Amino acid sequence: METLTTPQTPMTARRFAGKVCVVTGAGSGIGRATALAFGWEGACVVVADVNEAGGWSVVNQIQADGGEAVFVRTDIASRADVRQMVNTAVRQFGRLDCAVNNAGITGGVNAPTGEYPEDAWTKVLAVNLTGTWYCVQEELAVMVPQGSGTIVNVASAAGLHGHPNNVSYCATKHGVVGLTKTAALEYATRGIRVNALCPTGIETPMIMDGRLNLRNNPEALAKFSSQAALKRLGRPEEVADVALWLCSDQSSFITGHALAVDGGSFA
Ligand SMILES: NC(=O)c1ccc[n+]([C@@H]2O[C@H](COP(=O)([O-])OP(=O)(O)OC[C@H]3O[C@@H](n4cnc5c(N)ncnc54)[C@H](O)[C@@H]3O)[C@@H](O)[C@H]2O)c1
Repeated sequence: METLTTPQTPMTARRFAGKVCVVTGAGSGIGRATALAFGWEGACVVVADVNEAGGWSVVNQIQADGGEAVFVRTDIASRADVRQMVNTAVRQFGRLDCAVNNAGITGGVNAPTGEYPEDAWTKVLAVNLTGTWYCVQEELAVMVPQGSGTIVNVASAAGLHGHPNNVSYCATKHGVVGLTKTAALEYATRGIRVNALCPTGIETPMIMDGRLNLRNNPEALAKFSSQAALKRLGRPEEVADVALWLCSDQSSFITGHALAVDGGSFA
């Protein structure tokens, strides 16, 4: 998964040639697959993450494949970092066409709402909700004068349904969906589309090694996988494909949508 080096789908066209795309949380999992896919499809990619090793490995891979990319160490919970990320896109590549605001954390705690610790609540809010809002604001500051742009915010199926023992994550992902719909309504007539992705059960370090630790728990992994109608976990590349489609002209009549990428889990 993390050593992915070839395009996930055969390319008939380089849809993003000449486009400038930012991906947050691009050093791992879904963000990594999305940044690599933008690179393969011809975009100049701004790779943003707090994980410097992961981010640089993506930049190196895109460049090795003949693409253009730059890494910006970005903590999305910092307005100054997010501004620097967007400024880098403009300074280095001249504009900003697409943004996939993907960085997110779970808080690492399993606890019911009444016992959920305040420090985890505050941390998850700062990254998942305030951080995503900083990204959208700073991206709009470039896209509005340009008169064009597409933004995809990575929420979660936990942004559409309740999520026991994970209240901060669930509340922030619902917030990301609300942020997405509101911005979509406000900027639709100014050439900017804003959509959300709502994945669940994607095989990334977040669920394999994080709060759920599925890598070391075969029973939990089997149970989790069986929740999907497709009876398996999704691959990060399968989410990246949808993110790129939402950023592309092929989805030109879609805005304000929260699209589940869940293998039929909630059908
Ligand atoms: N994997 C799943 O099943 C799943 C399901 C639903 C939603 N999501 C969402 O998808 C997104 C990507 O998750 P993933 O599964 O690829 O996880 P991941 O842990 O593999 O990758 C997340 C990346 O975000 C980075 N990051 C964390 N905090 C950051 C910050 N403050 N600023 C910048 N970067 C930061 C991490 O360093 C990491 O590289 C997240 O928003 C997550 O909530 C994932």
